[in-house]
Amino acid sequence: MNFLKKKKILLVVTGGIASYKSLDLIRRLQEKEVDIECILTKNVEKFVNILSFESLLGKKTHSNLFSLDEENNMSHIKLANNCDAILIAPCTANFLSKMANGSADDLATNVLLASNKLKIIAPAMNSLMWTNKIVKNNLTCLKKLDVHVLSPQTGKLACGTKGSGKLMEISEIVDELDFIFSPKILNGLKAVVTAGPSLEKIDPVRFISNFSTGLQGYEIANSLAAFGAKTILISGPTNIEAAKNVEVVEVLSGKEFLQHSIGNLPCDIFISVAAISDWRIKKTQRNKIKKNNINNIEFALNDDVLKNVSSHRRKPKLVIGFSAETNNLLKNTKKKLIEKGCDWILANEVTDDNAFLSDKNKIYFFDKKKVYEWPKMKKRIVALKLTKKIVSFFKKK
Ligand SMILES: Cc1cc2nc3c(=O)[nH]c(=O)nc-3n(C[C@H](O)[C@H](O)[C@H](O)COP(=O)(O)O)c2cc1C
Repeated sequence: MNFLKKKKILLVVTGGIASYKSLDLIRRLQEKEVDIECILTKNVEKFVNILSFESLLGKKTHSNLFSLDEENNMSHIKLANNCDAILIAPCTANFLSKMANGSADDLATNVLLASNKLKIIAPAMNSLMWTNKIVKNNLTCLKKLDVHVLSPQTGKLACGTKGSGKLMEISEIVDELDFIFSPKILNGLKAVVTAGPSLEKIDPVRFISNFSTGLQGYEIANSLAAFGAKTILISGPTNIEAAKNVEVVEVLSGKEFLQHSIGNLPCDIFISVAAISDWRIKKTQRNKIKKNNINNIEFALNDDVLKNVSSHRRKPKLVIGFSAETNNLLKNTKKKLIEKGCDWILANEVTDDNAFLSDKNKIYFFDKKKVYEWPKMKKRIVALKLTKKIVSFFKKK
């Protein structure tokens, strides 16, 4: 599924150490059959030979505001609006400031001011620049103006230091564009997603919980909503904000997760991502338990939300579970798929840098016939890949 096919993107490249990476970006967009026009700021040529851009593109780039030839060929007003979106990658601190302040002193800034199209920026700069308050203010200002920001990553920077400000990976920029151009294919479908940890009260001051951050479930809910599904997110305590078009129901205990999951049936898609405690306290104590009375704590099994939804008379058309294990991941997941009666399970191994406390996830995707190994990806990209599978499922129906 290629949502970028035949899209017209006006790529603005600005002059920084990461300018050369936009050559790879052009190549990747061409693979996706994107129609690209390219503006280079004057300073780009200090970093990359313009011939490299023009050879790759197979056509001229644009950079001169005051050239009659260029204006006759493609006026800056036409460049500004003859596209689906304008992508500035990499975007320098200087250009970010010019955008935020409405400067119009070269071709790129004039085009931006004269365009009513979606604008996307992928900033890249030294980490001190990136964390500078002036840059932050400019960024806040652009976000308020609905400019879509592809945030830089943390990593080794060209100046030799390690920190934030590194251009988002090119493959991730392409994935993010896929998100931005996602058609509302799931319109008319209702999705329910659970996310985050549960919290089982022991007494007024203590509880049992786990290390789930909720990120994977939030990304899946955001992705389904971006594709047009009416999305309800039943969430345990997290400090993440869901997209505006996701309806969030805040819960604490496993019992509440179950109550709201069943309460939201019927739905078309149910995805159980939450790490709901297998156990709860048989009887929550009214008063704080004294430290020597540990034997007073008795456990009971929580009802299994996924199993309950799968076996419900109003079973959703597609029920998907997650399986988090520290050992025997594949064997245990296969067993779960049968026991819980769901359609698909995504298995993720809990290690120090995978699943719970990481923004990346390595997934084994199980349907009833096969297991597919997915490469380790950002949770946002896992969400996109899963959403695309869901889209295919409903297309076949
Ligand atoms: C070696 C070198 C590397 C640079 N790298 C960056 C960078 O990664 N990000 C950035 O914002 N500015 C960087 N700059 C500064 C920009 O080149 C400078 O602000 C320039 O005016 C940007 O022009 P433009 O925004 O019109 O393309 C760098 C400068 C030099 C000399």
